[in-house]
Amino acid sequence: MFTTDSLTGNKAEQYQQLIAQCEALLHGERHRVANAANLSALLFNSLPDLNWLGFYFLEQGELVVGPFQGLPACVRIALGKGVCGTAALTRESQLVADVHAFEGHIACDSASQSELVVPLIQNGELIGVLDIDSPLLNRFDAVDQAAFEKIAELFCSGSD
Ligand code: SME
Repeated sequence: MFTTDSLTGNKAEQYQQLIAQCEALLHGERHRVANAANLSALLFNSLPDLNWLGFYFLEQGELVVGPFQGLPACVRIALGKGVCGTAALTRESQLVADVHAFEGHIACDSASQSELVVPLIQNGELIGVLDIDSPLLNRFDAVDQAAFEKIAELFCSGSD
C-alpha cells in the first residue's frame, strides 16, 4: 500500500516532500498510463485549491485526454488551441493567473479560474502536457511552476 505523509514546512519544502513521493510512486514501474493515473491521484489529493489535474497525450498531431482527477474534460485539443495547446506548441509552461484573460482559453470546467500547464518532453520529443486547474484566481506562482516542471521531467524519464 502506498502511504503519503502530510506535507510540512514552507511551500518549497512541501514540494520537496511531494516530489520525493512522486519518485517513490514511479519507482519500479514504467507504464505511461499507470504512472500518469497514479501521479494524478497523488498530486490532486496532496495540493490545496485544485479542481482538475491531469494529462493530455499527443496522438496523431492533437492532444487527447489521459488520466486525470476532476470533472469530465474536453477529449481532444488541437496544438496551439487553449492553454494546453499553447504549452504543447511552444513547449513552454503556461502560467495563467486568470483564465478569462487568456485568449482562446477552453473552459472544460466552469469552476476553473487559474491554470498551469507544463509540457511533457521525452527524449527531446513532445509527448503531451500536464494540466492543473484551480477555482481560485492567481493560484499558481513560479514555485508551483518549477515544481511541476520537475514532476513532468520525472514522469517523462520514468515512463515509456
Ligand atoms: N483549460 C484548458 C482545457 C483543458 S481543461 O482545463 C481540463 C485549455 O484551455 O487548454
